[in-house]
Amino acid sequence: MTQVSEAPARKRAQIKERTLRTDPWWNRGRVVATLLTIWVLYATVRVFTGHWYFVPQYHYLTPFYSPCVSGECVPGSAAIGTWIPAIPPIIPYAFVSLPFVLGFRLSCYYYRGAYYRAFWRSPAACAVREPHASYSGETKVPLIIQNVHRYFFYAAFVIAAILTYDVAQAFRGPDGNFGIGLGSIIMLINVVAVWGYSFSCHSCRHITGGRLKHFSKHPVRYWIWTQISKLNKHHMAFAWISLATLMLTDFYIMLVASGAFSDPRLFN
Ligand code: FES
Repeated sequence: MTQVSEAPARKRAQIKERTLRTDPWWNRGRVVATLLTIWVLYATVRVFTGHWYFVPQYHYLTPFYSPCVSGECVPGSAAIGTWIPAIPPIIPYAFVSLPFVLGFRLSCYYYRGAYYRAFWRSPAACAVREPHASYSGETKVPLIIQNVHRYFFYAAFVIAAILTYDVAQAFRGPDGNFGIGLGSIIMLINVVAVWGYSFSCHSCRHITGGRLKHFSKHPVRYWIWTQISKLNKHHMAFAWISLATLMLTDFYIMLVASGAFSDPRLFN
C-alpha cells in the first residue's frame, strides 16, 4: 500500500529580502491611508459641528445629520421627530444612524482589505513580508467581530431608504411644490452612489443567492443574484465614489446653509 506523505507545515518563504517586487508597491497603501484619514477627519469635524447641516428653504439635509433626531435639530430637519432633549452636539444629531453607517463601512470586505494594508500593513501588499511576527487573520477577537457585517447591511439598507426620502424632499422648492436646484442633483447622485455601494455588497449578494442548492428552482432569486453579481464586481469603485459623494454633498450643503454660496435653481 502506498504511503501518503504528510503535507509540509505551512511556512513563510525563507528569503532575506522583504520582497522581490521591484514596482512601487507601497504607493497604493499610502494613497488609501491618506484619503481615508482626510475623510475621517472631515466627517468627525462635521458631525460634531452642529451648524450648517440643513437648508430650510430647499429642504436640503446633509447625510451626516440624517435622520436628525436631536432636540437641537432646526425646524424642518427632523423628519422622524426628535428623540432626545436639546443638548449641544457632544452627541451627534444623527446618533441613531451613524454607528450603523460606521459599522457597515468599517466591516465592509473591501475596506477591511484596504485599511489592513494601509494602516496595519498586514499584509502591506501581495508578496511583501509584513512587519508582524504572527498572523491570525480574522480568527480572533477583535477582528472576528467583523463577521457581523451582514447585520450592518440590513441597517444600512434602512438608512439608504431614509437618505432617499431626504432626496425626495430636496426636490421641493421654497413654496413646497416641485423644484430643482444644484443641491437636489448632488443629493440625488449621492443617494444613487450609496445604493450602488449597498447593493454591490458581498452580504447582499449572499442574501439574494447564497445557500441555494438549485438555482433552477429559484429563478427570481437567481435573476436578482446575477444582477447583484454584476454590481458586486464594481464594489471597490462604489465604495470610493460613495465616500466622495457623501463628502461632496455635505460640503455643498454646508456652503449653502452658511450663506457662502447660493444654490443655482433650475426650476422653482
Ligand atoms: Fe462592502 Fe458589504 S462588502 S459593504
